[in-house]
Amino acid sequence: MTRHALHAGRGALCLRSFSETRGEVIEDVLQRTDSARLTNEASLYVHWPYCLRRCSYCNFNKYIPRENNDHMMTECLQRETETLLQLSQVSCITSVFFGGGTPSLAHPSTIAAVLETVSRQANLSDTAEVTLEVNPTPVGRSKLEDFFHAGVNRFSIGVQSLQDEDLKVLGRDHSPRQALLTVAEARRLCPGRVSVDVMFGRPKQSVESWENELSELLRVCDDHVSLYQLTLERGTQLFKQVLEGEVTLPTEEETAEMYLCARKTLHQHGLLQYEVSNFARQNAVSHHNRSYWKGTQYIGVGPGAHGRFVPVGEGGGPPRGPDPDSGA
Ligand SMILES: C[S@@+](CC[C@H](N)C(=O)[O-])C[C@H]1O[C@@H](n2cnc3c(N)ncnc32)[C@H](O)[C@@H]1O
Ligand code: SF4
Repeated sequence: MTRHALHAGRGALCLRSFSETRGEVIEDVLQRTDSARLTNEASLYVHWPYCLRRCSYCNFNKYIPRENNDHMMTECLQRETETLLQLSQVSCITSVFFGGGTPSLAHPSTIAAVLETVSRQANLSDTAEVTLEVNPTPVGRSKLEDFFHAGVNRFSIGVQSLQDEDLKVLGRDHSPRQALLTVAEARRLCPGRVSVDVMFGRPKQSVESWENELSELLRVCDDHVSLYQLTLERGTQLFKQVLEGEVTLPTEEETAEMYLCARKTLHQHGLLQYEVSNFARQNAVSHHNRSYWKGTQYIGVGPGAHGRFVPVGEGGGPPRGPDPDSGA
């Protein structure tokens, strides 16, 4: 998971105003802006907005579908991809990330269709990283092979916890066993290219139980772990439960200890932290994640996505304000 702050077409503007208030980073930021303008490369984030239910902690942009409109979504994603590739004049997509919502609910033919659209419009190398987020339910697992044949070569699996009770409190619709089976199947298909999402700071969690859980996770996981501290989000069911004293969260001190313990344990197992939430070993660093942190261009399609790129107007150059000399 990555949360972004800048919007398509506003990247250069936002970066410039940021540099005015933070003199010490002017050069770096402007350099990034320039390189974003000059390059014809970008990564692509595709947002699939549907979930089967709302997890108690989640405030992402997501919808529980009343009817199946996969066909319409596929068409919209394709059209938006085409439009933004034209607008940005990006000719090379370096990585693709299907996030959500729950993109493993999408039909594999949707994933294939979006990738075909990218390939028609830009260069997408056969070796480019193509990640799909997967909810580890039996249905999600059964579709992995078809996603792989559709062009996905990396899976990010939302394990969240290996404690049955905790998964229930979080409102997840899978068991720890189903999560482990999904990780195993994903590793069979894409060895070395499977990531797991885990959260700490969960209701009633103790440092000791977290240590045991991490050890179990490390026995089964591949070479990449995304580690998230649970954020209590306003408007979620969990927020209400905590407010009403129905559920308690660990203290800040306990949560900090969990983070330090996780970092240490992951490092001891060769999983090195390469950005705020992500750890990898054996060169399993996600190119897509890293590209956000390097400040390169990215295009976002789908209802909950946004991007950061310099759009090119129909006249072939970046959009301009009125010419000060023209009197307009
Ligand atoms: C795009 S989300 C969801 C992907 C997928 N639908 C799932 O639930 O597994 C990616 C990750 O963000 C993390 N996440 C979501 N809400 C969070 C919260 N309130 N606090 C911390 N992490 C959160 C979860 O670990 C989740 O797997
Ligand atoms: S955590 Fe994932 S499955 Fe749960 S509601 Fe959020 S996006 Fe959907």
